[in-house]
Amino acid sequence: MKILVTGGTGYIGSHTVVELIEAGYEVEILDNLYNSQKSVLDTIEELTGVKPKFHEVDLRDAEALAGVFQDSNFDAVIHFAGLKAVGESVEKPLEYYENNVGSTINLLECMQEFGVHKIVFSSSATVYGEQDTPQYVETMTTGVTISSPYGWTKYFIERMLMDVAKSDPDFEVTILRYFNPVGAHPSGLLGENPNGKPNNLMPFVMKVATGEIPELSIFGNDYPTPDGTCLRDYIHVVDLAKGHLAALNHLQKGTQVYNLGSGKATSVLEIVKAFSEVSGRLLPHKIVARRAGDLPEFFADPSKAERDLDWKTELGIADAMRDTINYLQKSRGMEI
Ligand code: NAD
Ligand code: UFG
Repeated sequence: MKILVTGGTGYIGSHTVVELIEAGYEVEILDNLYNSQKSVLDTIEELTGVKPKFHEVDLRDAEALAGVFQDSNFDAVIHFAGLKAVGESVEKPLEYYENNVGSTINLLECMQEFGVHKIVFSSSATVYGEQDTPQYVETMTTGVTISSPYGWTKYFIERMLMDVAKSDPDFEVTILRYFNPVGAHPSGLLGENPNGKPNNLMPFVMKVATGEIPELSIFGNDYPTPDGTCLRDYIHVVDLAKGHLAALNHLQKGTQVYNLGSGKATSVLEIVKAFSEVSGRLLPHKIVARRAGDLPEFFADPSKAERDLDWKTELGIADAMRDTINYLQKSRGMEI
């Protein structure tokens, strides 16, 4: 089976490509390298013995995209490519709508034109917005209290995929709503390495560990949670990658939606403690004001994925911290 992976040199995409190749899939990667590096292809080869064919193409370039589909006979697409910085999306909403929604329109048009009908899409827990309870289940209404243009792009893409699957009975769509991906490949060769300023907690933790920034700013410790800091459902990126294989194996006509999370909530202070324990050094941190838009707590009800996809997380926070530190030491020159 031949899979086109958009955004395949990025953080989650590259880990998924490794799992796909190891499972015997043929993979081609499309990425514009906006937030990733070409050297990831060499790392994938080092890990799997296979260097996937690479298309340095921007999904917004419909002509170039058609060229990619023209030359290859894809069986399915896993669509990771997109911009993901929540704060930036508030400042530059049109860039987010153009890049995320516009790109996906081009991709779906190409898929229709070239008769490719299977797609797995990277959505986010952000589509749930604020709910009455912190544990999100797929049956909850989405799109009511989404807090950023980034979140709306995920919501609109979900809707588009559902509408396309309704209009064309050949389509097999699976939407995966990720919770908070963390960790790195256990080899220490692959991990999260964004270009420019990071947004999420772990890339900041990593920058503190490498000394690039002096201390982690914890956004608020006055939330109604046990230690006052926010609770999230952190999922190891290798577990998440394996969730994509499970989704590919269970594609069926119409649209399916799954949460990919652990079902457990961990606080920011617990992350700091876990990282400090594994590294053997207290991670410098300070409490600062709350970040606008943060919810005190949310985590997945992952039971639908467990039931239908036969998938569940196998790795925990300590594994994610160990693999992150291993990656920092092996690939980013950190000394501990
Ligand atoms: P990433 O930035 O590491 O990977 C995304 C890749 O897409 C990058 O390599 C980037 O260069 C590429 N890209 C962006 N726009 C493109 C375009 N127009 N054409 C071609 N390539 C383009 O991000 P990630 O963390 O691996 O996330 C992958 C997907 O998962 C994204 O859609 C993201 O929104 C979604 N997601 C991520 C998280 C998270 O916390 N990491 C959480 C929920 C959902
Ligand atoms: N945090 C800090 N300091 C930092 C960075 C983050 O204290 O330097 C805290 C945040 O306040 C939050 C927690 O760490 O409490 C996790 O923050 P992230 O930015 O890593 O993740 P979020 O839960 O805010 O964001 C995630 C996804 C987004 C999605 C969003 C809303 O990364 O894709 O959930 O559902 F849009």
